[in-house]
Amino acid sequence: MTNLFDLTGKTALITGGGGLLGPKHAEAIVEYGGKVILADWHEDRAKKKAELIGENASYEYIDVTDKESIQSVVDKYDKIDILINNAAKDPKVKKGGGLTPDSRFETMTEEYWKEGIDACVNGTFLCSQIVSNKMLENGGGVILNISSDLGVISPDQRIYRQDGVDENRQNVKPITYSAAKWAVVGMTKYLSVYFAQRGIRVNCLSPTGVYNNHPEDFVKKLSNIIPMGRMADIDEYKGAIVFLCSDASSYMTGENLIIDGGKTVW
Ligand SMILES: NC(=O)c1ccc[n+]([C@@H]2O[C@H](COP(=O)([O-])OP(=O)(O)OC[C@H]3O[C@@H](n4cnc5c(N)ncnc54)[C@H](O)[C@@H]3O)[C@@H](O)[C@H]2O)c1
Repeated sequence: MTNLFDLTGKTALITGGGGLLGPKHAEAIVEYGGKVILADWHEDRAKKKAELIGENASYEYIDVTDKESIQSVVDKYDKIDILINNAAKDPKVKKGGGLTPDSRFETMTEEYWKEGIDACVNGTFLCSQIVSNKMLENGGGVILNISSDLGVISPDQRIYRQDGVDENRQNVKPITYSAAKWAVVGMTKYLSVYFAQRGIRVNCLSPTGVYNNHPEDFVKKLSNIIPMGRMADIDEYKGAIVFLCSDASSYMTGENLIIDGGKTVW
């Protein structure tokens, strides 16, 4: 029987490949026989991650908000079968909390707003446009967008609060993240129908918070609003990546696969 999950002969471009999850998506694809291009505007980080993965991984400098930069990466490769739109500005909770007044809605600047949505919304638009044109020349492919549980619900701002901080200076998840992540789900639906009969499937994966040495207090508060009672492990999205990028999901398009320990079910 053929292996439905086999990715032999497939090349995947992964944006944000120098970050936390991009290299994990890459590992999953390589483990099932594919080749990956880790692309990031932090080229040094993409390089390090590609070297750890080995000979089936390459790395590229890319700015996903710049058409020429994307085109020059795409032109280097004969074909791209899989595009994972993973780059985003993802404001993270750091050790000690970290107060970021810019992230509050009342005082957010236009500059912060534009920066917050640029990589995710404009990057997904531009990369999808340039890579899909190449896919159409080569008989099709798979576009996988990365959204978030916060692409289908509102952030519960209580988990970002810090004791002893004035109400109007409390740390919050910014509105930019919601705007960007909801937009990605909408673009997935749009493009899936647009390309449905031309060999390109477009789906979305929505993770929840992945544990990465966050402050204990934050982990406790987040775990409390997740039915499974814990954050995601960094390897727990690899199975979904292989499924969504391979023929195992050949009749699936326009869907948003939410993997969140039940968080959005509550
Ligand atoms: N980590 C989580 O807990 C979590 C949860 C839900 C969803 N997500 C989503 O998963 C994806 C990956 O998250 P992550 O935790 O690995 O984030 P990360 O911040 O570690 O990585 C994102 C990467 O994108 C790159 N990037 C940003 N702007 C860019 C640009 N203009 N051009 C090229 N590269 C650019 C950054 O340099 C960074 O390496 C994001 O879309 C994020 O929103 C993450």
